[in-house]
Amino acid sequence: MALPSPTPITLFGATTPSGQALIELAGGRQLVVAGRRPPLPPAGGGDPPPFLPCDLEQASGGGAAPKGLLVSFAPIWSFAPWLARFASSDPAGFHALHGVIACSSSSVITKRFAANGFDRDLVQRLRQAEDLLTQTCAAHARTLRILAPTLIYGQAGPLGDRNLSKLRQLLRRLPLMPLPGQGGLRQPIHCRQLAAVALHLADRLPQAGFDPSQPVHLPLGGDDTLAYATMLRRLQDATEPGDAARRCGLLALPPRLFQTLASPLLLLSPKTFEALLRMSADLAGFTPVHRILGGGPEPFPVLPLAR
Ligand SMILES: NC(=O)c1ccc[n+]([C@@H]2O[C@H](COP(=O)([O-])OP(=O)(O)OC[C@H]3O[C@@H](n4cnc5c(N)ncnc54)[C@H](OP(=O)(O)O)[C@@H]3O)[C@@H](O)[C@H]2O)c1
Repeated sequence: MALPSPTPITLFGATTPSGQALIELAGGRQLVVAGRRPPLPPAGGGDPPPFLPCDLEQASGGGAAPKGLLVSFAPIWSFAPWLARFASSDPAGFHALHGVIACSSSSVITKRFAANGFDRDLVQRLRQAEDLLTQTCAAHARTLRILAPTLIYGQAGPLGDRNLSKLRQLLRRLPLMPLPGQGGLRQPIHCRQLAAVALHLADRLPQAGFDPSQPVHLPLGGDDTLAYATMLRRLQDATEPGDAARRCGLLALPPRLFQTLASPLLLLSPKTFEALLRMSADLAGFTPVHRILGGGPEPFPVLPLAR
C-alpha cells in the first residue's frame, strides 16, 4: 500500500460532494482548496483546509498560484481553459506542478450519439475541454489523468448529489413509477469512492512521472452493475423504515408502451424525452472502483445517501 503522498494537493470543486469527501479522506496530506467559495469544515470536526480564492472564469484565475498536484471536481470546461491560461502566463509555475487529475464525465461516451442539441453540445464541450487539457499537459510534460465517472451519488458532510436524491424524492411523491421493463444497466459511483480514486492516483502519479504511453482517460463506475429497476429497489430498501419512498410501486411496462406514452414529450422537451429513452440504455461497463483501489467490491448503495 502506498503511503499518502507528501506532494501538496490543490483541490478545485471542493464544494461538491466529491470535493467534500476528498477533504474528509485527505488525512495527513497537505491540502489547499482553490475556488470561489471557501471549503466547509470536515464532518468529523477539525479545521477546513487553507483557501486560495480563484475564479476559473477570470482571465488571471483571480490571482491564485496553485502548487503541487491539481485535483479538480469543477466543470472541466471551466478548468481546462483556466489551466491553459495559467500555463501560458506562468510557464515556470506550471512546470513546477506535479501533475493534474481532472474530473470529466462518462457523458462524453454515453451521449455521443444523442439526437437532441443540448446533449450533443454537452459532449462537444466535454471533448474540447479534455483535448485542451491533454494538449496543455503534454506540451509541458506534466502527468494528467482525466476521470470520467458515471452517475455520482451520495452525501459527504452537508453536501449531497442531485440525481439519485431526486429519484428518491420522486419515489416519495408517486404511488407508482412506470419503467421501461427492468430498464437498462447502471453503474452508480459514490462520491466517496470517486474521491478515494483521486487520492489513490494523487499518491502515485508524482512518483510515476510523465509517461506518454499511459492512458490519460479513465472511465469510472461503482462496483455494482444493476438494472435501473434493481437500482430503484435498492434505493427504496436503503431508506428508513416508514419512509414514503418505500411505498412507491415500480410498474414495469413493455418498453414500447412506455416509449409511446412518453412520446408527447418529444414536442414539449426533446431532452426529457431522450432522458426517458435512455432509461432503457445500458450505461455501464466502466472500470469499477475496486479494481483501482484494491480490496473487495462495495455493493450498491454505498452509504451515506443524500438526504
Ligand atoms: N453529478 C454527476 O452525476 C456527474 C456525473 C459525471 C461527472 N460529473 C463531474 O463531477 C464533478 C462534480 O460534479 P458536481 O455535479 O458535483 O459539480 P458541478 O456542478 O459540475 O461543479 C460545481 C463545483 O465547481 C466549482 N466551480 C464552478 N465554477 C467555478 C469557477 N468559475 N471557479 C471556481 N470553481 C468553480 C464550484 O465551486 P463554487 O461554486 O463553490 O465556487 C463547485 O465546487 C464535475 O467535474 C462534473 O462534471 C458529475
